[in-house]
Amino acid sequence: MLERHDVWELSKTDPWHPVIEWYARAISELKKRNAADPGSWAYLAAIHGTDLPRSRWPRGATWSECQHSSWFFLPWHRIYLHYFERTLRQTIVVLGGPDDWALPYWDYSDGSRADVRKLPPAFTQQRLPSGDSNPLFVSERLRRMNQGGELDLDAVDIADALAETDFTGPEGARIAGFGGPVTGWSHGGGTVGSLENTPHGDVHVGVGGIRPPGLMSRFETAGLDPIFWLRHANIDRLWEVWLQQGGLRKNPAVTPWLGMKFRIGSGALTLTLTVGDVIDSSKPPLSYQYSRVSLPAPSRRVPASRTEGPEVAQEESLMPEDRFPEMVGASEERVALTSGTTEVGVKIDRPTGPALEGLGESESVQPRKVYLKVENVKGRELSAPSYRVYVNLPPGADPAADPAAYEDRRAGKVSMFGVVEASDGNEEHSGSGLTFSFDITGLAQRLQAAGDWDPEHLRVTFTPTGDEIAPEGLEGDVTAGRVSLFYA
Ligand code: C2O
Repeated sequence: MLERHDVWELSKTDPWHPVIEWYARAISELKKRNAADPGSWAYLAAIHGTDLPRSRWPRGATWSECQHSSWFFLPWHRIYLHYFERTLRQTIVVLGGPDDWALPYWDYSDGSRADVRKLPPAFTQQRLPSGDSNPLFVSERLRRMNQGGELDLDAVDIADALAETDFTGPEGARIAGFGGPVTGWSHGGGTVGSLENTPHGDVHVGVGGIRPPGLMSRFETAGLDPIFWLRHANIDRLWEVWLQQGGLRKNPAVTPWLGMKFRIGSGALTLTLTVGDVIDSSKPPLSYQYSRVSLPAPSRRVPASRTEGPEVAQEESLMPEDRFPEMVGASEERVALTSGTTEVGVKIDRPTGPALEGLGESESVQPRKVYLKVENVKGRELSAPSYRVYVNLPPGADPAADPAAYEDRRAGKVSMFGVVEASDGNEEHSGSGLTFSFDITGLAQRLQAAGDWDPEHLRVTFTPTGDEIAPEGLEGDVTAGRVSLFYA
């Protein structure tokens, strides 16, 4: 069994621990290979995404295939990482290194350890101990990160993702859950799963920056930053952490998911696996485990009310198909996501369809599930790496100045990673942008109990995160098509 280790723990013993040093040596080797070679650095990154037009791809290349905004996000990246790790290990063995080398992971969310939100030291030094240039260093990152700065706490917050009880939402409802919505093959665009949103999207932009976008900030270049692979090992690990919590948290058990087949690479290196082949990473062909899958200490204080879901609502989530979510309200105009705070009002109507079933004549509607959606987020220039989304803030509240004070009114966050790609209508993307869904059942019940829920009107507030990533005066053109409320 291969073991994937925590890169910060390795770095504490030695910034150039052999696992890290072999990683660097193998990358130097991969970079010498031709881009048409399915074992080259350029080819490996292009599998995820590439700026090269199709006419210039090598024959049979499986490029620009990363699965995003989809319930295939986690399994596809797992297969991709396995292909990458296997290629590196083979190279390391040829170079005389260990045959049990495994990809380390970057766990940036553990609040009990200092430093973990920084890039590990081997990734920020321009030179190797030998004096040669360091292949783990790239200059196309947010400068602060290369200078030893830290990711924002917002970017690494895993509480929302781990609190999700459903892997996915009802088919066709554009509701994501932990792992992403039910889709076919999906190279971005659509509804983003909660792990894919935060910390995944935030850490991409948090390392890469937004103006100019660094390698990590775009699908087409992310795999060219060596840290990409370690942070994806962590996303893969968080999938295990989520499952470990047990209870209702389970992988889908249906054939359209388990039977989906992905082919990666070409020639002798081709790897073809189904989702069902990789859901247990400890079994062949994967055969790896993580050195730690326990729940980490929260990176900041999370009010208990945010994590304690209402039990009744959780039971219902066992049969999400039972009631198809019905839209009960939506904002009337596009909502600009700027570098400042934005508030939008949503008029709520009484449900007329499925959500009303079994409610009788009673005046107050008690939906079993309440979802908030931020739909079709599009734009070419970002104003912030992500936004916190609040519901019914008290009058005069300033969540930008004191986010902690309003945590119990936060529906979630929307990360801007992938917005630009998803706004581009071409052969790979639909051009309809990204959609975010939040299960706010617990929040709606708390607001109701506090007398702060108006059954006819909802107020939704967006505040940007990461002032250091988005310098003042930086104004992009991102908008959300609408903000909507659903009952099920
Ligand atoms: Cu396919 Cu982190 O991206």
